Amino acid sequence: MGTHIRAIPEIGSGAALLLVRTTARLPTMADVTIRPATADDLPFLLETMVEIANSPYYRRTREDLLADPRVRHYVEGWPRPSDVGVIAVRGERPVGVAWVRFFGEDERSDGFVSEDIPELAVGVDAAERGKGAGRLLMTAVHDAARAAGIRRTSLSVDRPNRAAEMYLAQGYQEVRSTENSRVMVLEL
Ligand SMILES: CC(C)(COP(=O)(O)OP(=O)(O)OC[C@H]1O[C@@H](n2cnc3c(N)ncnc32)[C@H](O)[C@@H]1OP(=O)(O)O)[C@@H](O)C(=O)NCCC(=O)NCCS
Repeated sequence: MGTHIRAIPEIGSGAALLLVRTTARLPTMADVTIRPATADDLPFLLETMVEIANSPYYRRTREDLLADPRVRHYVEGWPRPSDVGVIAVRGERPVGVAWVRFFGEDERSDGFVSEDIPELAVGVDAAERGKGAGRLLMTAVHDAARAAGIRRTSLSVDRPNRAAEMYLAQGYQEVRSTENSRVMVLEL
């Protein structure tokens, strides 16, 4: 992974150059590792949830967001037995988290599709964005969800959020949309 140039005599220098160009876009996260999210990670999930819910287009205060049941229900009671989550850590320090949670019909989460499809949330520390942690977390949480027997995940993304590109690149497909947001589903 990364931008290491390796000599590959059997495929020639042209192919080696292609390999370098291709791998240069992959995450280079040698010092960031992934571990399962635990009950102790609740404070980090809460702070990340504030970031996720706080669209730059409609800024809200931290207090307002944490008091909003539609925000709180993504983290309340963490971890429920059916929650699946992973944390990206640099050394001991959490730098990002991705998790999936099942919601009932009555809970009306933003990315709700059905009771048997958990909704995904993902966030990376502002100072750590754009370095590959998001993609690393997505792959890890999908693997963990698959291992837990989950077949599909859903999510909601604000229309102007660049994260939508990451979700489409991961294979998510849009299942409904409004003027402001898109709901997507991934077959695991
Ligand atoms: C969205 C987010 C989790 C992506 O994590 P990241 O570590 O920045 O992502 P990566 O470096 O792995 O890049 C993956 C893709 O994410 C998108 N991305 C990169 N930086 C981004 C940013 N600052 N904001 C939104 N999306 C971004 C791009 O599509 C990128 O693909 P590219 O490298 O081919 O351009 C992260 O930017 C974040 O926490 N944003 C704020 C919270 C949020 O919007 N969460 C999603 C709510 S639906």
